[in-house]
Amino acid sequence: MTDTEAMADEFDTMAAWTADAVAQLGQEHAVPAACRGSGSPAALYWLADRLGLRSGMRLLDCGAGVGGPAELAAHRYGVRPVLAEPMTAACRASARLFGHPVVAAAGERLPFAAGMFDAVWSLGVLCTVPDQAGLLAELRRVAEPDAPVGMLVFLRTVERLPEQPEGNSFRTEAELAKLLAGAGLVVAEQAELADFADPEPDWRAAADRVEELIERQHGGDRRWQTARQQEQIIGGLISEGLVAGRLLVLRQAG
Ligand SMILES: C[S@@+](CC[C@H](N)C(=O)[O-])C[C@H]1O[C@@H](n2cnc3c(N)ncnc32)[C@H](O)[C@@H]1O
Repeated sequence: MTDTEAMADEFDTMAAWTADAVAQLGQEHAVPAACRGSGSPAALYWLADRLGLRSGMRLLDCGAGVGGPAELAAHRYGVRPVLAEPMTAACRASARLFGHPVVAAAGERLPFAAGMFDAVWSLGVLCTVPDQAGLLAELRRVAEPDAPVGMLVFLRTVERLPEQPEGNSFRTEAELAKLLAGAGLVVAEQAELADFADPEPDWRAAADRVEELIERQHGGDRRWQTARQQEQIIGGLISEGLVAGRLLVLRQAG
């Protein structure tokens, strides 16, 4: 199996199955099930507050997945999100669940004019992107000159990882610093994902119900098994402290 196929199982097929499961279980499951890898609501609110999100702002969510974080931002802060995501079934899933505008596009080639957004965020995406410098340059380009860029980045804390999910490439802190400097982005604030409270039990329970239904309906499918394996590898790396999530509030240099 290629890296691309494994990532499609994890981010495309699973997205479609997630939207189907939510349709069967009820819309109250949508946001918890559609926050894939972006951490807890507490972490998202921290980031949203630091980015100064407020009513009417145009927020780009780059690598938006199934769209849970963008919906959270729209619901709580009143922003007008636009989603960009290369996996077309994920685009359809987010549109079906939340109805926000979405474009099928890779973060390295965003189909937007320069300076179009009042804020930009990209959550759990950098490690999945082949051209990471290209992604950062694009995030900066489409943000207004004084607009903040928020990221959740999973960093490698050791020289070598025993294994990693197909298609992922985790940077060290020093490598990330170089990438950011190259893109003309400066860290204004940061926080460790592990320092935020876990989601509330009802949030976790809703996400679990969706996962259980997907497993019942698709557990025998090779694509489900690949996606589950990918998730278990990243989960294991995080729980062993070999990879750690960091939230970043970035400003444009100069
Ligand atoms: C771990 S998921 C996070 C999804 C979402 N941001 C969230 O927090 O729920 C990573 C996402 O990055 C997307 N992705 C992969 N390659 C990408 C690229 N080149 N540009 C933008 N997004 C990409 C994947 O399809 C997937 O939806």
